[in-house]
Amino acid sequence: MHTAFTRGPVADVFSSYLVAVSLSAAGELGILDALRREDSYSIETANADGLDPRLVRQLLVTLSWAEIVEVADDKAVTGPRFDDAYRARGYFYWMVRGCGELFSVLPEVSRTANRTGDFYTRDMRAVAVGSKLIGETEVEPHFVELLGELDYSAIADLGCGSGQRLIDAVSRRPGVRGVGVDIAPSAVELAASSVAQAGLAGRIGVVTGDVRDLEPLPEFAGVDLITCVFLGHDFWPKTTCVAGLRKLRTAFPDARRLLLCDVVRSEEPPGADTTIFTLGFELVHAAMGVYLPTRTEWREAFRESGWVLNGERDFAAPPRGVLFDLSPES
Ligand SMILES: C[S@@+](CC[C@H](N)C(=O)[O-])C[C@H]1O[C@@H](n2cnc3c(N)ncnc32)[C@H](O)[C@@H]1O
Repeated sequence: MHTAFTRGPVADVFSSYLVAVSLSAAGELGILDALRREDSYSIETANADGLDPRLVRQLLVTLSWAEIVEVADDKAVTGPRFDDAYRARGYFYWMVRGCGELFSVLPEVSRTANRTGDFYTRDMRAVAVGSKLIGETEVEPHFVELLGELDYSAIADLGCGSGQRLIDAVSRRPGVRGVGVDIAPSAVELAASSVAQAGLAGRIGVVTGDVRDLEPLPEFAGVDLITCVFLGHDFWPKTTCVAGLRKLRTAFPDARRLLLCDVVRSEEPPGADTTIFTLGFELVHAAMGVYLPTRTEWREAFRESGWVLNGERDFAAPPRGVLFDLSPES
């Protein structure tokens, strides 16, 4: 009997999938935050929060397989992998809650005949929240530092997602105003409500729009700084990217700087050192039919669209994250 597969590497792949879905759920349910605050989580709490204790216990037992927690009696305590799992929670949320539906229909979306119209669904609120968490490790702290040094009076954030970057950028600088652009109604709604909650509705506007095809709106006048984080690949393929980047120059006639941060495509096969996110990011975009450019291809597109590259900054998290610092050609 060939039953060796029931234990070992292939069985571990199966269990890892379940850890990933449990981690995403535990994050959304506030269980990871509670564990971080208290180092322990009583399953009684689940009951009081209107959650099914049997399911919550099972989520925690699943996480214990990966040493993220330890479960004893009716409580869980943080395990040796908890801190790393907590730092990585955004990647899991992006993948499971944001892209889970797409993974379940991979056979359908693989058929070219099915690739017309809206052939897939993602939860864009979860994608926005996951991206915000992914950015918190390195990208956001770097933006805070950089924006602290730059002189600007109005900022536009393209593909603004949760709206967090705009809120930070505007609330730190009295007198500065901001505008967010996003194509997804759920992201626009999330950003607008976060802006209102922060009491900044008078200084930050959020508009629905496709960043590849922007016209010069009244809200864009005077914008001297543009940021665009984790969606640059949506400008591609190359011809639409070059046209879209060129159009940004007319939509934002006063822009002096464009800070474009994105994850670039890997150029080597996966192996023992494959980083978190890489395979998920590349599989999801292949499933959506979105082209992922390499760093070299980006540089060509900037040259051809009239943006001068002032410098590049690499990030370890997200892996292959690069910030391109650009100015319009004079
Ligand atoms: C991965 S999220 C990143 C969100 C945010 N920039 C951040 O750093 O957390 C990508 C965002 O870009 C938006 N987006 C994707 N394609 C777009 C397009 N063509 N025009 C405007 N927004 C777009 C998505 O709706 C989503 O909110």
